[in-house]
Formats: sequence, C-alpha cells, structure tokens
Amino acid sequence: MNRLSDRFGRRMTYLRLSVTDRCDMRCVYCMPEEGEPHEIRQEILTFEEIHRLVRILCRLGITHIRVTGGEPLVRRDLPVLIGMLSPMDELADLSLTTNASRLSPMAEELKTAGLNRINISIDSLDPEKFFRITRGGRLSDVLAGIDRALSAGLTPVKLNTVVMRGINDDELPDLVRFAMDRGVTHRFLEVMPLGSVGLENRAGFIPAAEIRKIIEKRYPLEPLPFHYGSTAQDFRIAGTEAQIGIISPVSERFCSSCNRLRLTARGRLQLCLAYEDGVDLKKPLREGWSDDAISDLILKAAYQKPAGNHFAEDSEPVYQIAMSGIGG
Ligand code: 5AD
Ligand code: SF4
Repeated sequence: MNRLSDRFGRRMTYLRLSVTDRCDMRCVYCMPEEGEPHEIRQEILTFEEIHRLVRILCRLGITHIRVTGGEPLVRRDLPVLIGMLSPMDELADLSLTTNASRLSPMAEELKTAGLNRINISIDSLDPEKFFRITRGGRLSDVLAGIDRALSAGLTPVKLNTVVMRGINDDELPDLVRFAMDRGVTHRFLEVMPLGSVGLENRAGFIPAAEIRKIIEKRYPLEPLPFHYGSTAQDFRIAGTEAQIGIISPVSERFCSSCNRLRLTARGRLQLCLAYEDGVDLKKPLREGWSDDAISDLILKAAYQKPAGNHFAEDSEPVYQIAMSGIGG
C-alpha cells in the first residue's frame, strides 16, 4: 500500500537514486570548468545501506527506481548494486540515466543484473561540439553505448538533449532523425537555472514552445495525451509511428502531478529538484535505527514536499544546487 503522500495529495511512487556525485564529463550546463567538489568515500552510502533504504522505501510505496549520478557507471561495481535491487518484489521498473561514456562494455552485464531500460544523454551529433559541451566527452563512446544498449535489450532506450540557444538549437531536427533511424524516443529538455552555472543557463534558455517550433520546421508534430506523473509533453511525428518528448520544467512545470523523491549519494532524501529541503537518512542508518523509525522519518519528510519550483520567476535567478549531486 502506498503511504508516501504529501499535503497536496500527491503520491510518491518514483525514486531517483543517485549512486555517486562524480562524473567523467563536465557538461557546461551542469558544472563549472573546474568541476564540482566531491564527497569523500565514507560519506557516500554503501551498497548495503542503499539496499536497506530502498527496501524501506519500496515498502512505503515506491515502485519505480531510476539510478542516476553524477555518472552512475563511474561507481565501481554498479551491476552488483543493480543485482541487489532488481529482485525486490515491489519494484515494477528499474532504469538508469547515463552519459554512456562507459556503457558499451557494460550494457550486457547491466541487463543480466536486472536493469530494465536506459536513458542516454546526447547533446550534439558533431564530435567536436560534443567534446566542447561535455568538456572532454567522446561522441563515439556514446554512439557505441546506444547501439549496445539496444542490442542488449535495455529498452525502451530514450535519448535526452538539453537545448541551449546558440549551442545546439541548430541540431534539433537532426537529433530527431537520428532517433527515428534507431527506433528510439528522443526527449528535448529545457535547461534549468541550477548550480554555479545557473546564470549562463538562463542566458541559453529556450522555452518548450520554441523547441517545438524549431523541430516542426522539418517534422510536423501531433500532441499525444498527457500521462499523470509524466514530465514530458509527448508528440507523434506526423505520418509516422515515431515519438518525441519535450520536457519543460521551467515554462510549463508539471509539479502538481510530481510523483518523485530523490535519494542523494550521501544519503539525503530530497523532496524536490529545486530545493535542498529533505532529511538525512545516513546518520539514522549508521546509528542503528530500526526500519520502523526510519520509515516514520521518511513519511514525515515526504509529507512536506514543496509545492513546486519557481524556475520561471526572475526573483530567484539561480538555484544553488549542483545537478551532479542529485542526478536530474
Ligand atoms: N537543466 C536541464 N537538464 C540538465 N541535466 C543536467 N543539468 C541540467 C540542467 N541544468 C540533464 C542531463 C541529463 C539529466 C540527468 O539531466 O543532461 O540528461
Ligand atoms: Fe556529468 Fe551528467 Fe553533469 Fe554532464 S550533466 S557533467 S554527464 S552529471
């Protein structure tokens, strides 16, 4: 039975689980050039600690988990953790969001461990531009990762592009074509004003309506019905079976149907992407609290989930939250 709900009657069934705050890329909209400081190893939850918290959260009502980072595949032995989580009865879906730098050699192993499906970030199809946006990422690794995810059956594979004016807004139709050729769904994200690069992100922001127009210059789009809990407006490319999504956390936020909680790599249950509100679960875990006591703590915190973000308002120009620490 789902007991995770808040003052607005929203039910939380979806957990975004960050397993590391480290990343082997430094995307311009996520981090400053020098990267973000990392937490020391002892401050990061162990696999056993993650397993215990996930078990408790699943008993309270979580049915879907997405593993994130930083870059989750940077965490050593990640398939072992996937293998620990995937057998849980309550879990209807276990997925992963990755930059795919290391995915190709690991895709089969992840599938065997019980991972269901995967989202891959790809912000450009031009190797040099890709290198510049990610500050060092190799497009060829990502392309190999996409192919291997598909052949390993980590489906449906979804591709994500963060849209930035003057950087990759000229590539949107090409990205749609790329996804159509592979039979996968592509999703375009509005860039959020988060972290120390938040002001630059505001400068490069393109709203969902304009993203749609740019794509429609080549591919007419037919809107599909909205699903509760979804963060994307989905479209069909006219005259085809292909679908794309546009995710608009800024211009058309979906906060009122948000069903998410986040667990950071350092063990904080975070209630909303835009606020550091939440509760530390690592200390209670390490102090030996019972499952019931930890459950109470989680239920009380979840009830206080904020109503929503204020990304669209200029009064708060930047949210001082590093995306790399909470994984999107
Ligand atoms: N705005 C929008 N999306 C972002 N991501 C990281 N930072 C931002 C931001 N400021 C995306 C990544 C990845 C996912 C985890 O979040 O590109 O697709
Ligand atoms: Fe790494 Fe993802 Fe941030 Fe890029 S957006 S630097 S891949 S954590």
